[in-house]
This record gives sequence, structure tokens and C-alpha cells, in this order.
Amino acid sequence: QDYFLSSQALIGKKALVTAGPTYEPIDPVRFIGNYSSGRQGYAIAECLRDAGAEVTLISGPVALDAPTNIKVVSVTTAQEMLDACAAHLPVDIAVMTAAVSDWRVKDFSNVKIKKGENAPPPTFEMVTNPDILAWISQDAPIRPQLVVGFAAETNDLLDNAQVKRKRKNCDWIVVNDVNPNTKIMGGVENEVTILSSSGKQHLKRASKKDIGRLLTQKIIQFFNV
Ligand code: CTP
Ligand code: CA
Repeated sequence: QDYFLSSQALIGKKALVTAGPTYEPIDPVRFIGNYSSGRQGYAIAECLRDAGAEVTLISGPVALDAPTNIKVVSVTTAQEMLDACAAHLPVDIAVMTAAVSDWRVKDFSNVKIKKGENAPPPTFEMVTNPDILAWISQDAPIRPQLVVGFAAETNDLLDNAQVKRKRKNCDWIVVNDVNPNTKIMGGVENEVTILSSSGKQHLKRASKKDIGRLLTQKIIQFFNV
């Protein structure tokens, strides 16, 4: 057990963490999803818990065990994730690691869509999902004191992420390179740069658990200066 976590520096603080993908249903057997494993979010939730925070973890569909002493709320879609977040505010700290689907199909089909014989492939009208991070940071009735977003990028990482941070008005944004060759999205390791209004900090490649520890350390520092 790390010294800084066992110091219980976050006792009395409430934290909300989102993790994993969302699934947006198309018909009873199909959905739009992504490769997120939930590992980074679960690791952060566990570190915040170990540091004494009261943690609610809003989780999309993942293949991870529910951590102990954390309130886990399982959701499927982006809209459900937003509703679950809203129901668990106010909090002091929000860490939004989830890979939320940006779109959903406009009209869910109650019956399985058939391939048909020589029929053309279906096309789907899409609608944009709510942006949970932007909502928490800009529209929630009581804004968390610290809002941490993630940025999944494949190119122009820092520039794209800084634009994202400003657009969503979050305090920090944790940038990761989700090109398949990095084996980060869906994998066990991460390498990130944390951007804030006052600068940037690079965390070298490490297990998602260790990245969770370092991020929690930084959160502890934020509340203790
Ligand atoms: N996010 C969210 N709700 C959404 C989309 C994203 O809360 N509907 C959050 C993610 O959890 C992450 C941050 O916003 O913390 C950035 O997500 P990302 O997909 O990297 O950025 P987008 O703003 O969705 O832009 P794009 O996918 O076009 O890069
Ligand atoms: Ca997105």
C-alpha cells in the first residue's frame, strides 16, 4: 500500500469516475461500441478509494470485477451514463475516463434487421449523444471543484487535446495516443500527458494502475496546497 494513498488525504471528498465504453444499440443483437476496457478508470477509482475518497464508479460494459468499497453503477448507453452521473452529483472530483460513443442510431429497431437476399446494406441515420464531460463541467447545478477529462487522440495529440480541454472547460485533460500500435486502448499500460491551464506533465509508459496512482497523487496535491 502506497504511503501517499494510505495517508487518507482525500477523506471527506466525494469522487465520480466514468469508465469503459458505451454501447449504442442498433437492434436486439447489434450495437456500436469501442475497444475501451475500463482498466484506466477502474484503476483511478481504486486509487481514489485507497486515498480515502467516497467513490462512485459509473461503468459501461466491461469484463472487470467490481471493486470493493466503491459504489458501482453499471450502464450501457451514453444517455444512461449521463443520467447516472447527474444522479450522483454533487461531488468534489470528477474523472471522466469513459470512451463515450459520440453518436447513436436515431431509430432503434425492435426487430432484428434482416440481411435479405440481394438486398442493399442498411444505412443508419445517426444522432449526436450528449457530452457528459462538458455537461458536468459547464452545466451541472454544482460543478465539481476538480474536473478531469481524458482525450483519446491519434494525431496532433497535444494540440487536439488542448482545444478539447478549453472547449469542455475541464481543469485537466489526460491525453493518450490511441493508435493501435501503442496497445493503449483496451490494453494494460498507458502513457499520458496531463494538460492544464498552467502547463503540461508527461507520465512515462507504465501500468494503468501506476498511472492511476500518479494521477491520484496529483489530485491529492491539488486539494492540499
Ligand atoms: N466525453 C463525454 N461524453 C461524450 C464524449 C466524450 O463525457 N459524449 C468525455 C470522455 O469521457 C473524455 C472526453 O470527453 O473524458 C474526451 O473524449 P474524446 O472522445 O477524446 O473527445 P470528443 O470531445 O468526443 O472529441 P472526438 O471524439 O471528436 O476527438
Ligand atoms: Ca469522442
